[in-house]
Formats: sequence, structure tokens, C-alpha cells
Amino acid sequence: MKYVIKNGSVVFSDGVRPCDILVEDGKIAKIGENLPAEGEVIDAEGLHIFPGLIDMHVHLREPGYEGKEDIESGSKAAVAGGFTQVCCMPNTNPVNDNAVVTTYIKYRAEKVNLCKVNPIGSITKGEKGEELAEIGKMAAAGAVAISDDGRSVMDSKIMRLAMEYANDFNIKCLCHCEDENLVDGGVVNEGLNSTITGLKGSLRAAEDIMIAREIALSESLDIPVHICHVSTYSGVEIIRSAKARGVKVTAESCPHYFWLTDDVIRDFDTNTKVNPPIREEKDRQAIIAGLMDGTLDCIVTDHAPHGKKDKQVEYSLAAFGISGIETSFSLSYTMLVKEGEMTLSQLAERMSAAPARILGLEGGKIEEGGVADLTIADLAAKYVIDGEKFVSKGKNTPFNGTEVYGRVAYTIVDGDIKYSAK
Ligand code: DOR
Ligand code: ZN
Repeated sequence: MKYVIKNGSVVFSDGVRPCDILVEDGKIAKIGENLPAEGEVIDAEGLHIFPGLIDMHVHLREPGYEGKEDIESGSKAAVAGGFTQVCCMPNTNPVNDNAVVTTYIKYRAEKVNLCKVNPIGSITKGEKGEELAEIGKMAAAGAVAISDDGRSVMDSKIMRLAMEYANDFNIKCLCHCEDENLVDGGVVNEGLNSTITGLKGSLRAAEDIMIAREIALSESLDIPVHICHVSTYSGVEIIRSAKARGVKVTAESCPHYFWLTDDVIRDFDTNTKVNPPIREEKDRQAIIAGLMDGTLDCIVTDHAPHGKKDKQVEYSLAAFGISGIETSFSLSYTMLVKEGEMTLSQLAERMSAAPARILGLEGGKIEEGGVADLTIADLAAKYVIDGEKFVSKGKNTPFNGTEVYGRVAYTIVDGDIKYSAK
């Protein structure tokens, strides 16, 4: 199988250049100007070609919560959002805390055959924080990382052991950082807006304390660690100073943290309820600054699809989470590149190269001989977000009515067109 993508602007790590790309047998066979038309031609006139986007933090809900999402609907949503590869969190039912569940997820994803799906195993059995899961067996079955995402591992000794085991098996710990005692049932950021609404707040410190602990463990043990969905300005600062002294810490944030402030909770829209909570303007600004200077290595969605019955209840009872995989590219492009200072190459670094590097996944760059995982987008295309039109089963977005730029035109995985907007 052979085809040429012609007339597009290719987003390389060092800049954007007009180039044609010859795809052959799932690989990028040649990159150059005016390549002869071999086989079929995809006309990418006016379009930008990115290395296939990678989302290293999603919830696909299968097994167990297929009403919210399943591997098929989640994969369809992923390719519609421009993602060629995702890593799915283990808070399923049963929890992915053993090699059987890990194997099942890989098997289902291969049957669905849309984007690449990399399972993340849990750190502790049942994500209960008490006893280590079968880390080695899950790694052998294909888990690319471990995480108790959705919850923190409150026992520091267990976290230490988890980091050591993960390191022995050459995978990373992805840490959900919230001190559960300090959160104490909080559902929004603690501040003026929690007072105005009467909703129970959660302090920044709940997140920062755990970020600092994971960094302390990583530094003492000299083992790399990754911090999930950073939401606080102070957390960004803790990570920045740790990086400056050489700690092997990497970190991620999500579009909702660099688009929104907790003013959005004032109308009690449960689609704004997410864990950790949306904070204030100085946090939003710090997340953007962190993504600009690389303190925050990558953008993830924390795609957390929920059903109507999970969200159409009073705020304090609603499920935490935002269905984000179909809006991440446009939200990131619009806020950071179009309205911000970020270059397209930096965006590709944050949404593709960095996650590939952090987890040792293939892809992440456009190079001859490399895998043909590509995301082709029309950056000039403007549209208004409407959650009801999502491919995902989760229609829960706080971005309804938001006007964004950047529409995914094609998502190509191993050379196969898995999504086309036409
Ligand atoms: O808001 C969230 N939802 N945060 C998490 O960490 C977990 C996720 C979920 O599973 O719904
Ligand atoms: Zn998550």
C-alpha cells in the first residue's frame, strides 16, 4: 500500500515546511518537495500535517462502565479528535490491576483497530491504596505505566515501593495528586467561588502536598515520576524548581485548566466538575506559562466520559470528569497557538513527541523510516463546540458554545486512514 500526501505544511520539531510525504507499508517512506504521485494522492493543500497526536491520559471505561464509554466508542472518539494513540487509565470495573484485564483491553483495542490503545495498570489492587498490584505481570502483558488515577496513593511507603517496582520493569508511575484527607469531600476549588456557591472547596495545598511528596520520593530514589493533570500555579512552581535541580519529574495538564477559571461553577453546571478542580486565573496563567517553558511536558485530555444520569444531578453528587478527547486539539491550538505565543512545533511536542518520549511509545515525530501515524488538520476551520455531536458516549463538556479553530481532517494510524472529516 502506497500513497502520497501532497501540498501540505508539515509540522517538524524544528519548524513548519511545505513537504510531500510518501507513505508505504505503514511507514513514512519519503519526505520531500514535489514527490511524484505514486498510488493514491491525498491533497493536503491548506492543511497542516502533525505527528500523530498521543493522549497519555484517557478513561475508556471498559471493562465495566460501557454505558459511559467502551473501547470502540472511545477509539472512534479518539481518532475523530486526531489521536493516533491513547493510554487508558485503570479505574475500570474490575480495575486493571492484573495481567488478565491488561490483556483484555489490548485484545479489544486490536479488534476495534482504530487508534493504538496502551493500557495503564493500577498501582494498588483495586486502586484501594493498600496492596501493590501485579506490576511486573501487567508490564509483561503490555501495560505502559502504572497509576491509581482518580485517587492518590496516600501511603508514602506503598508509593515508594511502587516507584521502585515500576522502575525495575522500566515503566513509569503516573501520579494523581490529591491528599484525600485534605480534600475531605471538596468538589470545587476552595476560594471565593466555593464560598459564593456554597459548594465544598478543596485547597490547592491538597494537590501541592502530593506533588511535593512524589517529587521527594523521585529525588531520594533517583527514579523518574510523572505528575498527572496539574491544576495549581503552586504545583507548577514546585515542578519547575524540581526540574531546575535535576529531578527526573515530568508533568501534564489539560485544556480545561488552561481555558477555564472557577467562575464557571457559579451556574452549577456539573460539566465543570472535575478532579482536580478548575482553579483561578493565576493558576490558568501559570499552566499556560508551564506549557510554554516546558515545566509541563505534555497536554493530555483526562478524557472522562460520563452518562447523563451521572451529571444531571445536584453539583455535589455529580461525577467528576470532562469528555475531552474530541476538543483537545482545537482548544489547545486556539488558546496556545492562535491566541498565544506557542509555535506549531511546540504544540506537536506537547501533544505527540513528549508523551511518546515519557512512555517510550513509537511515533511522536515525522521522519523518514518512522511510523506513519499522522494527524492532518485544517487550522483555519472555525467551529462551535457542541457536546451532543461528540462521537464519544460522554457528552459532558463545559465547552458547549465555545468557538474554536482547528478541525481534524484526517487521522492516519500505521498508514491507514482511520478518520476522515469528509
Ligand atoms: O475528573 C476526573 N475524572 N478526574 C479523575 O482523576 C478521574 C476521572 C474519572 O475517572 O472520571
Ligand atoms: Zn484521569
